[in-house]
Amino acid sequence: MYGKIIFLILLAVLIQYLIRLWSFLGYYKDVIYHHAPGPCRTLYEEDGSEDLYVLKNGLAFITSGYYLAKGKVKLFDFNDPRHGVEDLPILGIDAVPNFMAHTHGISVWEQPETGVVYLYVLTHPPGQDRIEVFQFDQTKRELKYFKSITDPLFRSMNDLVLIDIDKFYITQFFWFKNPYLVYMEIYLFLKYGEVLFFDGMKARSVASSLHQPNGINVSPDKSLVYVAEFGGQQITVFKRNKDDSLDVIQTVPVDSGVDNIEVDPISGDLWVGGHPSVGKALEYDANAGKNRTAPSQVLRMKTSKGLITDVIEVYRNNGTEISASTVATHFKGRILIGSVGSQLLLCDAKYID
Ligand SMILES: *[C@@H]1O[C@H](CO)[C@@H](O)[C@H](O)[C@H]1NC(C)=O
Repeated sequence: MYGKIIFLILLAVLIQYLIRLWSFLGYYKDVIYHHAPGPCRTLYEEDGSEDLYVLKNGLAFITSGYYLAKGKVKLFDFNDPRHGVEDLPILGIDAVPNFMAHTHGISVWEQPETGVVYLYVLTHPPGQDRIEVFQFDQTKRELKYFKSITDPLFRSMNDLVLIDIDKFYITQFFWFKNPYLVYMEIYLFLKYGEVLFFDGMKARSVASSLHQPNGINVSPDKSLVYVAEFGGQQITVFKRNKDDSLDVIQTVPVDSGVDNIEVDPISGDLWVGGHPSVGKALEYDANAGKNRTAPSQVLRMKTSKGLITDVIEVYRNNGTEISASTVATHFKGRILIGSVGSQLLLCDAKYID
């Protein structure tokens, strides 16, 4: 009798787990109807464009080389799209070991008084994650290495957003580093992700129990923080308190493995790169980008007073045009879409509502 009851309970738990896994991985979303906001063209095919940041003047910095031992920062000028994408030369790096290893999230701080542009690039050298800081020389179009920032808490970081010079929020995607424990973290749906705040000296946790927090950004007035929970397939909006701690004020489920978030500086709209199938995105990751494709998706989220009021899918593709899209941004009638390990795409923004 008890045996039967225990068996039935275990069966119910197992069935519930399998349904959750099926829904989490999203392999069932295998029929993908392609659509785009307008004509698109590929700016380049290889090494990816995991994250980007656009200055108000239309210059876009792109991190490329997430799968490479040495990544790059590339430059694209929205005002001169025919010029294409160029690699930014970097000066003054003699003494930095494992420089620009597996380049990941990027954020920029423009010093208000001087106009000096500082780039902060998250990298994954062996051991502890590190942020390389550069000064951008706009006339020569080159980067000058400035310094490196790291912290004992930087373990499996994903993206960062600057709110002042050397002060930033940064997401921790996984808790574990050991690959087997990471598998456990994924397949037991453990919500061990965090947001840390780095105050210029050291990091502390300001939000926890997040399900693989990926992209992070702030509202134009910096009062709200947006976090894309890849595993949770939702956007979480936090209010920033005076002491830089965070309180959740909105969660928006979007049924997509959401990745980086860009915020329109005027409208406050969010542009989000995403992965319709989390399972295919994870598989793509494991295979270092070359042989597989994973579907891509771009979401535009309208906001009112910083809160999300509407979600519009502006781009979707099964992975042939762009594989595993991680980021998208809109600038004066054009949309740039980046990917973890392959293409960078430029589309006309004709149909975005
Ligand atoms: C994606 O769609 C294209 C065009 O419809 C098709 O030729 C291709 O085989 C599809 N690829 C995958 C991976 O589904």
